[in-house]
Amino acid sequence: MKEIYKKALEAISSKTDLVPQVGIILGSGLGGLAQRIENAVVIPYAEIPGMKASTAPGHAGQFVLGTIGNKTVICMQGRLHFYEGHTMQEIAFPVRLMKLLGIKTLVVTNACGAVNTSFSIGDLMLIEDHINMMGANPLTGENEADFGPRFCDMTFAYTPRLRELAAQVAEEQGILLQKGVYLGYMGPNYETPAEIRAFRTMGADTVGMSTVPEVLTASHCGLEVLAISLITNMAAGIQKVKLSEQEVIDTAAARAKVLQGLVEGILERI
Ligand code: HPA
Repeated sequence: MKEIYKKALEAISSKTDLVPQVGIILGSGLGGLAQRIENAVVIPYAEIPGMKASTAPGHAGQFVLGTIGNKTVICMQGRLHFYEGHTMQEIAFPVRLMKLLGIKTLVVTNACGAVNTSFSIGDLMLIEDHINMMGANPLTGENEADFGPRFCDMTFAYTPRLRELAAQVAEEQGILLQKGVYLGYMGPNYETPAEIRAFRTMGADTVGMSTVPEVLTASHCGLEVLAISLITNMAAGIQKVKLSEQEVIDTAAARAKVLQGLVEGILERI
């Protein structure tokens, strides 16, 4: 194991001896789930060797460990984005750290724009697959064989068992859960209307600036993955209005509780 992982693990084990079962990455404006963690141990990224700071709005930049229902979890309250200038390897680091801490499952949430015009603002979407249009990949460079193989299969990256479970819990909770393909875009600008038309032709249902690097990393190291998007806006050009960060934040705030309830219901039965 690389020295930096050992140092990071030491920094965490000096604060807690909890062994998390599930890792959770919380998207823009969706950090509230971390408040539901009982007996929480909070560790700012700045205190962990190898971890970069989270600079995006609505991303606190800390790990929160503890329990939600019957599960021991480690939550990333605030994620790292490629557009912040972090390298893909830096974005991979916390996912691998959570794997080393013991997680078997990674749950990812994000805020995204709808490319599929049959979706509505405020809808939740279960990610069934993704398209990587970020122009980079965390698995390039020397393969860290401790974590996984050079050539990593992505056929079942979004774990079918967890997708079925999510659909079942959503139905029980009376939540409409759309299903589709998430396209990862580098950002930080929102897409052009022409890009959105192109992405629709390619098979994208939603678009966002995260998730893909973390899921590639998780899949490579053998983690089960569940990813749910909150649609905060229709993608560029669909409605004849400008996209705004405020709309993303406001919709995330308005719908965060529903997503939280769904994730908690799923966690109980993972
Ligand atoms: N595009 C990219 N990222 C996003 C969007 C979008 O429309 N909405 C929220 N995150």
